[in-house]
Amino acid sequence: MSPPRILVLGSNGGLGRCLERKFAPSGSTTAWTRTDLDLEQPEAIAAKLSAHPFDVLINPAGLTSPDVCEVEPEKARLANDEGPRALAEACHARGARLVHFSTDYVFSGKSHDLWREHDEARPANIYGRTKRDGELAVLKVCPDALVARVSWLFGPTKASHPDTVIQRALETEDLSAVADKTSIPTSNLDVCEWIEGLLQTSASGVLHLCNSGVASWHSWAEAALKIARKIGIPVKTTSVRPIQLAELTQLKAPRPLHTVMSNEKLQNLLGREIRNWSVALEDYLMEKHRPR
Ligand SMILES: NC(=O)c1ccc[n+]([C@@H]2O[C@H](COP(=O)([O-])OP(=O)(O)OC[C@H]3O[C@@H](n4cnc5c(N)ncnc54)[C@H](OP(=O)(O)O)[C@@H]3O)[C@@H](O)[C@H]2O)c1
Repeated sequence: MSPPRILVLGSNGGLGRCLERKFAPSGSTTAWTRTDLDLEQPEAIAAKLSAHPFDVLINPAGLTSPDVCEVEPEKARLANDEGPRALAEACHARGARLVHFSTDYVFSGKSHDLWREHDEARPANIYGRTKRDGELAVLKVCPDALVARVSWLFGPTKASHPDTVIQRALETEDLSAVADKTSIPTSNLDVCEWIEGLLQTSASGVLHLCNSGVASWHSWAEAALKIARKIGIPVKTTSVRPIQLAELTQLKAPRPLHTVMSNEKLQNLLGREIRNWSVALEDYLMEKHRPR
């Protein structure tokens, strides 16, 4: 049987680029950027997609900065809600499978318990609200779609918190990071593997795609520096100063405090344990800083 024809959107983004690299070797994958398909122009989406053959559409694209969403709510609505709704309509019309990415920020962050897929979403900001509206819109039109919620992504295709921390620690001893906000750092590469596995199943509906464990921005930074020292990177920072989220007065969007998601459903679907984020982080940093 020939492999499914996959179309990946948002291929200039961190996850989109990873997904493109993962599926491109199959020879039947196309990757589009915002120039090829603009989610903020939902009325043009059906025509764009009808001109291109695909069996699976993977959408990691969207307006992903909470602060930009907060000041540009209409752009956020189009990119995170109306655009995905139009993708779902197009997939439904042609019988294609849709994998749409969402976020842990759909949750209020007011509970320390693990958030499960069926827990009530009560977003704290416009980013989370428009992503939640997008989830509902996608599933209403396409009940067989997979809505994959991810959190705190890191990996080789886009600099994120651990890369920034190590870079800064090369220059200064004095580093601080928020200690009272928790979630799960999640490897972009692991997400791509899970998606590959899930495409072999008929998984649908909302699913949490995250590594195991829990972290704050502070413990994530400390872990990155510990690995950096182990690799031999000459970081100057010996310990990261813990601060409170409330001290980051420059943030425009309120942030939910605790959004650690349960990945039990994912583990059951794939039939294997999902590794801890710290193991995935070590693999990533070792590979990134491997002498060549
Ligand atoms: N990164 C995280 O920690 C995190 C956490 C939770 C959930 N998520 C979710 O995971 C998914 C992937 O995140 P990511 O970090 O890979 O995002 P990213 O690096 O910000 O990439 C998003 C991509 O979407 C594209 N895009 C933005 N507006 C668009 C539009 N109107 N039309 C078409 N494309 C548009 C961007 O294009 P340009 O390159 O042209 O700007 C970018 O390439 C997103 O759905 C995000 O909400 C991410």
